[in-house]
Amino acid sequence: MMKKIVAANWKMNGSFQQAADLVGEIINNFAKAPQFDVVTVICPPFLYLPQIRQQLQTSGKIQALQLGAQDVSEYEKGAYTGQISASMLAEAGCKYVIIGHSERRAFCSESDTNVLKKCLQVQRLGLIPILCLGETRAEYEDQKTQFVVESQLTAILNHKDIKLEKLVIAYEPIWAIGTGLTATPEQAQKVHHLLRGVLARYDAQLAVKVPILYGGSVKAENAKGLFEQHDINGVLVGGASLDPNEFWGIVSAAND
Ligand code: PGA
Repeated sequence: MMKKIVAANWKMNGSFQQAADLVGEIINNFAKAPQFDVVTVICPPFLYLPQIRQQLQTSGKIQALQLGAQDVSEYEKGAYTGQISASMLAEAGCKYVIIGHSERRAFCSESDTNVLKKCLQVQRLGLIPILCLGETRAEYEDQKTQFVVESQLTAILNHKDIKLEKLVIAYEPIWAIGTGLTATPEQAQKVHHLLRGVLARYDAQLAVKVPILYGGSVKAENAKGLFEQHDINGVLVGGASLDPNEFWGIVSAAND
């Protein structure tokens, strides 16, 4: 069975002190439950990566806890003011990079082409993209979910250099992000199953090994139902990842 992944997307929250406190609490919880077998990924704002890496290394918990970033440049290096490259993230100790989050697609006008270039950069460096897909509320109501997520996914998979063995997918219905509305486990499972089918068209053997996470108002209380679904291999958590008790509740549900 695939190990469950619980990824924390802190978004643009926190301070140096708050980041240290939050990671300190996560480390303490892992110390109390060393038998937990869940891949936990912390994706803080870029600035906090070095101090968190240091904290994880000092605690000896770096194996259970992985570092991730919330975005990356689509370029390798050069005159791209304000951007952060995949090699910088690799050097900072990141193993995962969230790519194509709906907030970036909406607020920074990222297209499937930008998302593809970012995935290629990240995989080239041996890091794993957490590729976000999802439909808007209007698309959901128009029953266009399948069409939207399928075209977002194939836009990436159609490139010959994309490696399925180095890919994580996160299905995040936009109407469920930060709204308190969650897709029911059955609704999410239906979309995850569909995504698995799309992956299988590219490589049937690898398709079953690609982790597909669900995201959108995941909390400790709804996590268990999600993890019970066959094609839900983990979760991408926004708001609830800033509360150490909630977050630990989710990690515990993933371990059950
Ligand atoms: P949320 O965010 O858990 O606050 O809904 C999830 C995400 O945007 O990744």
